[in-house]
Amino acid sequence: MTHYLVVGSGLFGSVFAYEAATRGHNVTVLEKRSHVAGNIYTKEIEGIQVHQYGAHIFHTSKEEIWHYINQFATFNQFINEPMANSKGKMYNLPFNMNTFSQIWGITTPKEAKKKIDEQRQVLQGRKPSNLEEQAISLVGYDVYETLIKEYTEKQWGESCKNLPPFIINRLPVRFVYNNNYFNDKYQGIPVDGYTRIIEQMLSHPNIVVHLNEDFLANKQKWAALSDKVIYTGMIDEYYDYCFGHLDYRSLVFKHEVIDQANVQGIAVVNYIDKEIPFTRVIEHKHFDFGKQNKTVITKEYPVAFEKGLEPYYPVNNPVNSLLYKKYKRLAQAETAIVFGGRLGMYRYLDMDDTIEQALLLVKRELA
Ligand code: FDA
Repeated sequence: MTHYLVVGSGLFGSVFAYEAATRGHNVTVLEKRSHVAGNIYTKEIEGIQVHQYGAHIFHTSKEEIWHYINQFATFNQFINEPMANSKGKMYNLPFNMNTFSQIWGITTPKEAKKKIDEQRQVLQGRKPSNLEEQAISLVGYDVYETLIKEYTEKQWGESCKNLPPFIINRLPVRFVYNNNYFNDKYQGIPVDGYTRIIEQMLSHPNIVVHLNEDFLANKQKWAALSDKVIYTGMIDEYYDYCFGHLDYRSLVFKHEVIDQANVQGIAVVNYIDKEIPFTRVIEHKHFDFGKQNKTVITKEYPVAFEKGLEPYYPVNNPVNSLLYKKYKRLAQAETAIVFGGRLGMYRYLDMDDTIEQALLLVKRELA
């Protein structure tokens, strides 16, 4: 039997720990935060499951992943149909016939396509060279101005003219009246919150969890106590930034309890205007059709990543991709440590991708 040290109790580390433990291995999990579950952590406040690190909606078309996660949770029927507030007016997202009708007063897909085609003419067939041109080529000028420009500039802290086109490679545009944000077969919110899922995974008798423990502060000690390390922290930090820092975008979340039953009438509203410093407001009770007398909202402020903040979104531009490749080469030469999860792989992973990646590691490591 092997003794695994899993660094990080997020979804990746916890799936691996659970699978190793059920196969008879011993697992020690180290978590530097004061709670388990990483970024999917939910905390009950006023009877409402509050997503502490941003809205988390489980969605997947992967049959086996849906069955896997259902071992640990019961999911409700939540469908994500976010709205956007631009200059005080509400629009449906993702861009679909409802949005086009709200912007242009049109009613048919033919009229919407005609509008977009007319507006993309400004590019005269040129390949988009920046995000602004990319957006106009996909949805036309009006949708870009109303719903994309200021929001994206807040999010990235940069003019759309200076941002690369690839950021919005896959902008969802639909010529049907359908506000369901995700195209996946399965979607929902776990009725007891995400933390409960992780607690169940980590409650196996072969698993010991240490909270408030930073592996990197005592790397030698912890590594010596185990046969193999599964590391889900930042790969550049593990190697002491020897090739330089990988870039991230960060967010600050401000939670508020409000003595009112219903503040915005929906779980997610995006705020487009640049004068409003936050990009989103989440009203958590609507994820679970809550009927409580009070409500909890979270405002999401995009900020540049710096030490002390949480690295949320990897910036996978050519410079960082090259830098990551250098770290990856070092990682591939290791025999006693494996890197995984969104930070170890320097890749944005949805929850279903995270589980899939962890199960792939289980196959390689524990077969
Ligand atoms: P995660 O970051 O959760 O876990 C890593 C853990 O390692 C952390 O707990 C950290 O504290 C710990 N750690 C790091 N270094 C350490 C060290 N040196 N010592 C000890 N511990 C250490 N997905 C989706 O499917 N639907 C959605 O709606 C969303 N929404 C969403 C919103 C926002 C704002 C973000 C940023 C992301 C999402 N996601 C999402 C993605 C989702 O959050 C992601 O798939 C999982 O959190 C990834 O889990 P990991 O275990 O890889 O990382």
